[in-house]
Amino acid sequence: MTVRRNILVTSALPYASGPLHLGHLVEYTQTDVWVRFQRMQGHNCTYVCASDAHGTPTMLQAEKLGVPPEKLVANVATDHRTDFKNFGISVDNYQTTHSSENKKLTAQIYLQLKKNGHIKRRTIKQAYDDKKGLFLPDRYVRGECPTCGAKDQYGDACEHCSATYTPMDLKNPVSVISGTTPSVRESEHLFFQLADFQEELRAWVPDHVDASMVNKLNEWLESGLKDWDISRDAPYFGFEIPDENEKYFYVWFDATIGYMASFLNLCNKSDKEADFNKFWKKNKDTELYHFIGKDIIYFHALFWPSVLSGSGYRKPSSIFVHGFLTVDGQKMSKSRGTFIMASTYYKHLDPDYLRYYLAAKLSSNIDDIDLNFDDFIARVNSDLVGKLVNIGSRCSGFIHSLGNGKLSKTLPNEQLFNHFITTGKSIAADYEARDYSKAIRQVMGLADLANQFIDEKKPWVMAKDGSQAEQVVSVCTLGINLFRILIIYLKPITPALAERAEIFLKIDPANWSDANQPLLEHSINKFKSLLERADPEKIQAMIEETRSNTPENEPTKKTQTDEIDIDQFSQVDLRVAEILEAKVVDGADKLLELKLSLGKDQRTVFSGIRSAYKPEDLKGRLVLMVANLKPRKMRFGTSEGMVLAGGSGGKEIYLLSPDSGAEPGMKVR
Ligand code: 2FM
Ligand code: ZN
Repeated sequence: MTVRRNILVTSALPYASGPLHLGHLVEYTQTDVWVRFQRMQGHNCTYVCASDAHGTPTMLQAEKLGVPPEKLVANVATDHRTDFKNFGISVDNYQTTHSSENKKLTAQIYLQLKKNGHIKRRTIKQAYDDKKGLFLPDRYVRGECPTCGAKDQYGDACEHCSATYTPMDLKNPVSVISGTTPSVRESEHLFFQLADFQEELRAWVPDHVDASMVNKLNEWLESGLKDWDISRDAPYFGFEIPDENEKYFYVWFDATIGYMASFLNLCNKSDKEADFNKFWKKNKDTELYHFIGKDIIYFHALFWPSVLSGSGYRKPSSIFVHGFLTVDGQKMSKSRGTFIMASTYYKHLDPDYLRYYLAAKLSSNIDDIDLNFDDFIARVNSDLVGKLVNIGSRCSGFIHSLGNGKLSKTLPNEQLFNHFITTGKSIAADYEARDYSKAIRQVMGLADLANQFIDEKKPWVMAKDGSQAEQVVSVCTLGINLFRILIIYLKPITPALAERAEIFLKIDPANWSDANQPLLEHSINKFKSLLERADPEKIQAMIEETRSNTPENEPTKKTQTDEIDIDQFSQVDLRVAEILEAKVVDGADKLLELKLSLGKDQRTVFSGIRSAYKPEDLKGRLVLMVANLKPRKMRFGTSEGMVLAGGSGGKEIYLLSPDSGAEPGMKVR
């Protein structure tokens, strides 16, 4: 008899300032598959989540929409709930962090931390928007990177050179909210002394966080933990800090406490108040797991266990971390139509397709997960429709035509059935370890065996000879049984498909161990299509809709590969240049050294055009060059610009030249 585990599971709380997109669904799918698997094992597994309500973005978004933030949060949480339901994410409770339970717990935890001496006060300098009357979060200040000079960088880190700094360090800072130059103001803030927990964390981290994250966490631990600013000044949408004057808890302080609050809310609703302490005060007979993305590991593996420990609560059993979603190998992008909202996906495609596809790529490491739509169609159609559902469809007809819809008394090949059952143990271990991709590989391996068995027996040939009706039903009975086992093994991943299959098989909702008992002398329904083939046209329609939902005037965040605007383009100093001299470079068989005239100025440029041009043919030729490219030191000398050429390389290189009449030094616009 296996022990019934008591498990509490959370997914990171999505911000209430916006809708859910496919990136969110990686995590909810990962969590939900694990939760459903645990429940199918007969464990007591509760899954809670909530919308992350507080902070400046919610406050500003509500202002923009002209609604109170409480109303915005309630509306968005309703949409989040709908998305959860549509994608089969089986949370037991979903509320928002702007709840009475969270307010009470946050205050209680803070006061306890204060009482235990973990809170300190310090006056800090911060960017302040005088026009808006608001202290500016780091991300609301943009300017030039103090290290590399890259323009339009956030106030906390440079996307170009990865330097980190404070908004006050930016050159020419601008408030994103009002467009004005922020001033610097002082204010007293409250700090949680994370360093008090340094040793405790050092011991705790290795056994409680995925191995792939431990090195990163150790680096932070080695470099010394900094105090954490948990307060914000008014105006701020959040909970007021007790015994302070107009100070609010920083959103991240009450967000993680939101996990507890959502569970408390569930306990209160179901008259199980005692459970709250059972899960949060003690950790002997209960397990607590947080699923998160790798970007928020600091909050969950350093701050959160320290906050819990410092206020007398238990620490998590484990933090499970996953990577980000990319689409066709790139970050999701609004202009490419790949920043797909959960609700848009749902309008066009079956959620089980996505659950299956993501699961097929998920494991317990933090690699990014790429969604490639050609691969998506191929996997859904070949695995789910072509291999799995096909087993049910090719066997059920004979059960009805030759067996009155009833399965036979015995199985013709018990060995094959037993092989499926034994493999189930190893598939279960994959689920437990969150190695869903491996679980799926095993399930599909079994599906291949089931199809091979049917192919070998050829019931459609046997059925031609009326004398073998019983054998045909027997073969197809095994086929249907194998199909049922596979449906059970995939049920944590494709619950809606499983539900339809259970109706077809006329069985009660199955648990994992139900697979062990064959279904014999049992009537089944006539087969109806259980899953449509994924249709590329629907994917196209979803992408088109996503694209058309991106307002033209809403600038999408630029990345290195996205388009640039006219201001960025005008930073490139393009000039007409005359080649005064060209020569080969010893030791570099691709390069020519060019001496260029820009009218008043001369430049030396090393250009990779040797495979297509003879030096003697270039003298006197006009070309186009980038004149303000940072000089680049090379082995042979310094290159002071770049000449422009098209083509694929080798002989296919074509220098760009202006029409006649252009003069060296002329600016190109
Ligand atoms: O990164 C985010 O989307 C946060 N809203 C996650 C919060 S998780 C937890 F701390 F509540
Ligand atoms: Zn930089």
